Amino acid sequence: MGAKRGSGSLMVVGGQWGDEGKGKIVDLLSAGFSAVVRYNGGHNAGHTVRVGEKHFALHLVPSGIIHSDVSCFMGAGMVIDPTALKTELDLLAEKGVEIAGRLCLSPRAALLLPTHRALDLAREGMRGEEKIGTTGRGIGPAYQDSAQRRGLRTGLLVDPDALAIKSRTLMDQHNQELEAVYGAPAVDLDEAVAELQSAAVHLAPFLREIGPEIRNYSDSQEAVLFEGAQGVLLDLIWGTYPFVTSSSCLPGSAAASCGVGPRHLGPVVGVMKAYATRVGSGPFPTEDHGNDGDLLRDLGAEYGTTTGRPRRCGWFDVVAARYAVETAGIDAIALTKLDVLDGLSTLKVALAYETEDGEVLDTFPADAETLASVRPIYVDLPPWAGGTRGLVQESDLPPAAEGYLQFLEEKIGVPIAVVSTGPRRAETMVRGTSEMTVVLGKILNRP
Ligand code: IMP
Repeated sequence: MGAKRGSGSLMVVGGQWGDEGKGKIVDLLSAGFSAVVRYNGGHNAGHTVRVGEKHFALHLVPSGIIHSDVSCFMGAGMVIDPTALKTELDLLAEKGVEIAGRLCLSPRAALLLPTHRALDLAREGMRGEEKIGTTGRGIGPAYQDSAQRRGLRTGLLVDPDALAIKSRTLMDQHNQELEAVYGAPAVDLDEAVAELQSAAVHLAPFLREIGPEIRNYSDSQEAVLFEGAQGVLLDLIWGTYPFVTSSSCLPGSAAASCGVGPRHLGPVVGVMKAYATRVGSGPFPTEDHGNDGDLLRDLGAEYGTTTGRPRRCGWFDVVAARYAVETAGIDAIALTKLDVLDGLSTLKVALAYETEDGEVLDTFPADAETLASVRPIYVDLPPWAGGTRGLVQESDLPPAAEGYLQFLEEKIGVPIAVVSTGPRRAETMVRGTSEMTVVLGKILNRP
């Protein structure tokens, strides 16, 4: 594969609760890189990419796969459901995406078994009102087995007999838990083993240690793009615990997931939506339960890519955004869906929170209970009458829209270097004069 850019790597992370539109941003940036690496999570993620009339919903495979000259890596910090991965690869092949020789899966990634899915659903059922609202894909139970050091890893997919024996033993333990603790039906182990073995045959050729290859790219000055899944506020430690996912969503975790040192990582682009959304349970201070929330959902087509669930919608939260920027070391923001705000009659942004005791907070509380009890303190900003849909030049933005961007970047403290004004690749603007604007402008070929 020929070198593309001679300079360093770049990281893309979600700066809110996932679903910020990372898929489109990573797809766009990918064209400037030799390799794209996904480093966390599993098929709980859903990255939507629209290319011409084709629509790709990716869950496990890095979004770079759509560019035929980009190599894609899946890190050891991921959890892999073999059937889901096989299905995704089949769908990509149907859409004419050539995968052979371009995809590499770490043999150290955690293997997600059919019983993990059943456990996820059973545990959520048991939690009742306290449920996390997981995607029901088995992500938490799979990571749990890994941390408990009884989990299986993708490397086992090369040995169908060992896979059958070891997975049956572990799934038998899961079945006992399902029946005894949750009163849920056991999973049919013959079917489950057959499902795993059938996917394993297709996936085994992709297994390869990824660290040496990523280090090679980086050492030979070929740029690597690291693609994070979910978002900072869903991070296992730094998110709104316990209403979080089970992996680290912070960019630093990419080094550990790939087996490379931190020097191989690069500056961080945080993707944020021009408003806020969340799926699943958990605190969301700026959620709008009234007409504005419904309007944002309708205008933004806010339904989960993975589960189809309606997303909870609300206003941009500067406190949360600043926290994400500081915690993840975000250097610049790519702001998505600005066009969804076109024509709104109200435009609000939260600048601080007020606690039940009347204390004003401008920092993000560490515990979910406090966060759930705060009241956002909003400022009203002027909405804009004209449309931003499809605009590619900053100078064409309605003044109030430009004012909105300047207000946000000033309050958050880092530049908004990219703005997405529609779902298509072309509907993207590189803006401002920051250092990151120049870096991203070069990658996107917009000097
Ligand atoms: P899990 O990752 O399926 O265990 O779900 C835990 C929480 O993270 C739930 O609130 C999910 O809705 C949320 N979540 C997981 N993955 C994503 C994602 O890719 N986008 C948005 N939310 C997600």
